[in-house]
Amino acid sequence: MDNNEFIRCWNEILTPKWVRFRHLLSGNGQTYSDAARDIVPVETGARVLDIGCGFGESCLEIGARVGPTGEVLGVDCTREFLEIAEKERDAAGAEHVRYLLADAQECELPKGHFDLAYSRFGVMFFESAVRALRNARSALKPGGRLCLIVWRARSENPAWNMARDVALEYLPPPGESAMTCGPGPFSMAAEETTRGMLAAAGFAQIDHFKRYDEDIWLGRSVEEAVDYQVLVGPSGEIIREAGELGKDKLPQIRADLTELLSKHQRPNGEVWGPSSAWVIVARNAA
Ligand SMILES: C[S@@+](CC[C@H](N)C(=O)[O-])C[C@H]1O[C@@H](n2cnc3c(N)ncnc32)[C@H](O)[C@@H]1O
Repeated sequence: MDNNEFIRCWNEILTPKWVRFRHLLSGNGQTYSDAARDIVPVETGARVLDIGCGFGESCLEIGARVGPTGEVLGVDCTREFLEIAEKERDAAGAEHVRYLLADAQECELPKGHFDLAYSRFGVMFFESAVRALRNARSALKPGGRLCLIVWRARSENPAWNMARDVALEYLPPPGESAMTCGPGPFSMAAEETTRGMLAAAGFAQIDHFKRYDEDIWLGRSVEEAVDYQVLVGPSGEIIREAGELGKDKLPQIRADLTELLSKHQRPNGEVWGPSSAWVIVARNAA
């Protein structure tokens, strides 16, 4: 599949699911933004680019930190995410936060303009993270920083992996021509490969490459956690791509997931699972 197909998948297949489970997806993004916050100080008046900004929560949060003398540009390829982001920006009165509906790999960005390029769980879904990183680097000032938050290996992320294992007991893995949203959540998990991608994009200096382990929220109840895993993430993709077989096996998969996810239920009824991500900070040459 090419880049346009990935972008079509975000707009046509994933959008309703992401809107439905936004509280989980964005809530978990926030957990990791909090981890990255102290590592990348953002000064008042700074100019920040947010790549693959989704609903724009991180743009608003960074917007509050840079203040009205600064600026934030969020770039995303999914129309409905940005429509929501724009409404929330207007409600917050954050006029210095702007959004651009575009492919971050090739959109035109002002050269040498930004102090920081930020991407929370964004670039690893792009067809070519290197192209997007190269594009972002050309928009950074000399000495400007890049901050990436990307998932670590599948095996380090039981929050996603345990449901995938259940789906694979009943269904085949998605084939080569699967309708996917890109290389996928774990495509930047290997440290050496990701360091190589950064170097290929021109980021010679890496200041910080560190793992963070957090429990992430999988549902307000076991029932919601099961819905989440059968519709979103690696297990959701396996079930969707299996077509009729996926529909046939769904009751058994749901039953197994209910049993499994019940073991991760907290006393307040919520379901949480272990996850792990890299927080990476690189620097454009001065
Ligand atoms: C996992 S979501 C992360 C969203 C947000 N950063 C967050 O943490 O909540 C990945 C985002 O990347 C966007 N995306 C995927 N490919 C893209 C591309 N080529 N250009 C711009 N955005 C892209 C998707 O639309 C989606 O909003």
